[in-house]
Amino acid sequence: MKKIIRLVAALLLFASFAVHAQTIPIETKNNALVLHVNSDGYLSMVYFGKKLADKNEYQHIPATQNLDEGNLYSSAYTTAGTRNVLEPAIAVTHADGNKSLELKYVDQSFSKLSDDVSQTNIHLKDPVYAVEVTLHYKVYAAEDVIEQWSEISNLEKKEITLNKYASANLYLQAKNFYLKQYHGEWAKEMRPEEEKLTHGIKTLDSKLGSRADLLQPPSFIVSIDKPASEDDGEVLIGNLEWSGNYRIDLEVDPNDNLRLIAGINNYASDYKLAAGAIFETPKLVYTLSHQGKGEASRNLQEWARKYQLVDGEGPRLTLLNNWESTFFSFDEQKLSEILKDTKKLGVDLFLLDDGWFANKYPRNDDHAGLGDWQVNKAKLPDGVGFLVKEAENNSVKFGIWVEPEMVNPKSELYENHPDWVVKQPKRGDYMMRNQLVLDLSNPKVQDFVFGVIDELFTKNPNLAYIKWDCNSVIYNAYSAYEKDQSNFYVDYVKGLYKVMDRMRQKYPKVPMMLCSGGGGRVDYAALHYFTEYWPSDNTEPRERIFIQWEYSYLYPALASSNHVTNWGKEPLKYRVDVAMMGKLGFDIVVGKLSPDDLLFSQQAVKNYKDFSEAIWHGKQYRLQSPWDNDVAAIVYVDSLKSRAIVFNYLVSQRFDAGSHAPVKLKGLDPAKQYIVKEINLYPGTKSGIKEGTYSGDFLMTVGINPEVHDDRASVVLSVEERK
Ligand code: GLA
Repeated sequence: MKKIIRLVAALLLFASFAVHAQTIPIETKNNALVLHVNSDGYLSMVYFGKKLADKNEYQHIPATQNLDEGNLYSSAYTTAGTRNVLEPAIAVTHADGNKSLELKYVDQSFSKLSDDVSQTNIHLKDPVYAVEVTLHYKVYAAEDVIEQWSEISNLEKKEITLNKYASANLYLQAKNFYLKQYHGEWAKEMRPEEEKLTHGIKTLDSKLGSRADLLQPPSFIVSIDKPASEDDGEVLIGNLEWSGNYRIDLEVDPNDNLRLIAGINNYASDYKLAAGAIFETPKLVYTLSHQGKGEASRNLQEWARKYQLVDGEGPRLTLLNNWESTFFSFDEQKLSEILKDTKKLGVDLFLLDDGWFANKYPRNDDHAGLGDWQVNKAKLPDGVGFLVKEAENNSVKFGIWVEPEMVNPKSELYENHPDWVVKQPKRGDYMMRNQLVLDLSNPKVQDFVFGVIDELFTKNPNLAYIKWDCNSVIYNAYSAYEKDQSNFYVDYVKGLYKVMDRMRQKYPKVPMMLCSGGGGRVDYAALHYFTEYWPSDNTEPRERIFIQWEYSYLYPALASSNHVTNWGKEPLKYRVDVAMMGKLGFDIVVGKLSPDDLLFSQQAVKNYKDFSEAIWHGKQYRLQSPWDNDVAAIVYVDSLKSRAIVFNYLVSQRFDAGSHAPVKLKGLDPAKQYIVKEINLYPGTKSGIKEGTYSGDFLMTVGINPEVHDDRASVVLSVEERK
């Protein structure tokens, strides 16, 4: 009898997984990502490239491709512990301790979310264990962007462990692959390296916990067949939307194809998933272009403005920050003066930085006070409200710095809630910048952090801007709250997002800068809650040209907070011209500017506002790279192709370095006539270019020489349609 039951069960199981082979194309405007289910029910990724005119022809793809027979290398979500012995996308320990997983196709669904956005969901299931996975592909057709993630369901009776849980597992077929990746450190963000990928696994990862991409951001640029240039070559740009530990594996397989597996880092994170629970991975966002890195980055920038950044299609505030002009040393009197200077400069907002809070352990340097978010009575006896009022009296807005995720041991918060702090119970502290990280996996800590922001807005409804900082990585990872330490790194980030979600529900549009001691936490998940990011504490303008250049492969200019400071030896004009290539701010003592410097800055702010539409919402074309030219050049063109602004900077100090040839513009309408002028001229100087009217055709084919030389080290050109 038992034998018969087993036979029937086996037949039923077989019947439920006997699927018809089928091809599933997921199309964007120009591309198709094609999945294939074979007759055994295994799902693989068989194509990612230009889309076909006739949808019916996708079914011929699997037979034509260089794939392995068992569809292991090309698996769309590689499992572990069964016939597969490759790096998995998912590895599970079942409730009974078994470590095998196999996923077979069950069904799929498709939904159209708008004219532009649609979503395909592929449902997979283990034939033996009650574990199911749904792969999600959200398509932004016009932008050629896909967001991919997965949901893992534990339908077993008891807790299971997720040993690995990637967001996406891509398979690219080509002869060669070239990876451009970034590394960094404080003040050295976004240093690029490009190399040909060889067989074996190349891993980009972080184990830093918070501000996880201080050493290496979760981004990649993969050129297909040959290294892509700005306008030529096939290239995939991607970013993992996760602000914690991540891991991106790039493996060239024996068929010379590329397996790319990206997701949360499973380091020290064997995640315990309760019975009945679903684990949703973060999203991997990527775009594929056949016209080089320029187009790919414009796709991503467009997508970010439309769908990911807070108010990405809205305006941005110019500002004056007091960090480098006062550091921690200020009082009401000094700030009132700076508020007047804010108005004098012509910017929109004054941003009060670190040092305004804490009383028992006043925040007079970075050793104390972090965590005690009560206004410091000695410095600001009349509270933040007084400053907000003063700002109003000067017709400017007011913003404030916070770092609510962190704590100095010398603080009342630490004294009252030592269990809210991430630290090893039996070991000494190890600190970055004299501070420790609060345990955001704990809902009480989430309430506290949300409360810091909420109280600021409740008490000061006219508060117009927040700079949210995050200066320490996580050392000695241990949570007094978590039952299982393996869940900590993941729950920490999920806790952070819960706080951000609450904040954005209540304050949906308030501009906020994502700062992390520079660019220690720039990714598209964090940027979903912010209007802009702080790329680096390094504001030396030549350094900044390189840093901003590289960030622009992933993020739009309106999100890049660029402040004019006193870093470096370049004249003020050079520093302002560089900061204009993004979201302009100042962090200087306006009162100490010479009359000409002040006049220049005031005029530059006006020019910036005049051309902000092109910089913020237009298309960016990188014209000449600072890496291999004396002169770096970038143009921003508005959507009507009627106004553009061209930035040119001397980046070489060699003898006779300069623009010895015209710079060819891009993105204009060849048939239109444009008036080209030099703007941002320093008082008393004249334009050094051949100003005049030129066709778009001429400007893009022959170009215009910005006449950049050591006595004209930065040159800004306006290009306006003659109507
Ligand atoms: C970090 C930020 C700076 C400044 C200081 C304040 O380093 O990156 O811009 O806000 O903190 O302590």
